Amino acid sequence: MTDTARQENPVADAAAIDDQPAIRLINLTKKFGEVTVVDHLNLDIRRGEFFSLLGPSGCGKTTTLRMIAGFSDATEGTIVLGGEDVTSVQPHKRNVNTVFQSYALFEHLDVEGNVGFGLRRKGLDKSEIKRRVNEMLELVDLAGRASAKPRELSGGQKQRVALARALVNRPEVLLLDEPLAALDLKLRHRMQVELKEIQREVGITFVFVTHDQDEALTMSDRIAIMNNGLIEQSGTPEDVYERPRTKFAAGFIGTSNLMTGMHSEAVLTLESGLSIPLPGHPELTQGAAVSIAIRPEKIWMAEFDPGMVRIPGTVSATVYHGATTQYLVDVAPGVRLTVLEQNLARSRHDDRWTDGDTVELGWKPEHVVVIG
Ligand SMILES: Nc1ncnc2c1ncn2[C@@H]1O[C@H](COP(=O)(O)OP(=O)(O)O)[C@@H](O)[C@H]1O
Ligand SMILES: [Mg+2]
Repeated sequence: MTDTARQENPVADAAAIDDQPAIRLINLTKKFGEVTVVDHLNLDIRRGEFFSLLGPSGCGKTTTLRMIAGFSDATEGTIVLGGEDVTSVQPHKRNVNTVFQSYALFEHLDVEGNVGFGLRRKGLDKSEIKRRVNEMLELVDLAGRASAKPRELSGGQKQRVALARALVNRPEVLLLDEPLAALDLKLRHRMQVELKEIQREVGITFVFVTHDQDEALTMSDRIAIMNNGLIEQSGTPEDVYERPRTKFAAGFIGTSNLMTGMHSEAVLTLESGLSIPLPGHPELTQGAAVSIAIRPEKIWMAEFDPGMVRIPGTVSATVYHGATTQYLVDVAPGVRLTVLEQNLARSRHDDRWTDGDTVELGWKPEHVVVIG
C-alpha cells in the first residue's frame, strides 16, 4: 500500500501500523438488508500476534471473521492478507484456516484421518502426510490417539483435533471463533494456556473471537473491543484495562466505577451534589461534562497514602469471594461505588467492615481514568 493510500485509509489504532501486517481491514462493512452489522471497521493485525476480537453477543465478531475467511462477502471495504487484496478471492485460495466452536469434525474418520484431511485433498504424498500429521498430533498432545474416533474423545481433545486439522495446512493466519466456549470452566482455563503455548510455538497469527473478557485479557497480545459493529478501542490487555477510552470499554472489561459530572477547578461535581477532587488534569475544560472511571481494586478503605483523594461513605453490602471481598459503598444518594479488597494473610488492616459501617474511601489521582 502506498503512503497516499494509507493516509486515505486511516486505521483505528495508528500505533498498530506496520509495514506489512498479517491482516489489514479497511472500511470493512457488512449489511444484511438495511441493517449494518459491521460498520466501516479499520484494523491492522500484526504478523505472529495473538489478537482477540472481544465484544458482546451480536456485535459482529463472527461476521467479521467470516468476511476475513471469505465465507461471507463484504458489502463495502477491503481485506488485505499478507499484503495482497483478497476481498474478491475465493475462501480456499486465502491462506487462512478457521476453527469453529462446534469443532465440525468428520465423525466417520479417526483422529489421523481428520487431521490429514486437507493434506490428502491437496494431493500430498502419503509419507509426507503421515509426517506432518504426526508432528501436529505431538504439538496438540494427542500422539497416542491417532486411531480414535471423535465420539471416543472428550470435548477438550476434540477441540485439539480441530486445532491440529487447521494448523497442519500451515496457514498464515488462523481464525478461531469462540473455540473454547463449549468447554467447562476448568478445562477452558487449561486450554487457554495450551492454546497460547501452541500459538507461540508455531508463530502463526491467531485471530481469536470471544465474548469472555478474562479469556481475552489472559491470552492476547492485543485486543480490539467491539460494540455494535464498531471497534471502540484496541491495544494491549493492559492498555484496554488500565486506560479504557470509552464508557463501553470501561464497563465491558472488568468492573468500573463510572461517574459523570461537571468539571471545574479540579473538582468533579456529580448530579447528586457530591464533589470529587480531580487533580492532575489541566487538559480538562472548565464547566465541561466529564466522566471518570476507577477500578474497584484501585480504591482503598484504610491506611491511606499522602496525596490520595478521600471521600466518606457507608457500606451497603459486602460479598465475600474467598481471596477477595467486594464492598458496595454509598458515597452520595444514588452513587454506589464497588471496592475490591484482597483478603491477605497480613492485611493492611485487621478489621473487616459490615453493612452500615461508616468508612472512608481513598484513591491515587493517577488511578482515575478520564473518559471522553
Ligand atoms: N445471515 C444473516 N442474516 C441476517 N442477519 C445476520 C446474519 N448473520 C448475522 N446476522 C446478524 O448480525 C449481527 C451480528 O452477528 P454476529 O456477527 O454473529 O455477532 P457475534 O459473533 O458478535 O455474536 C447479529 O445481530 C445477527 O443477528
Ligand atoms: Mg459469534
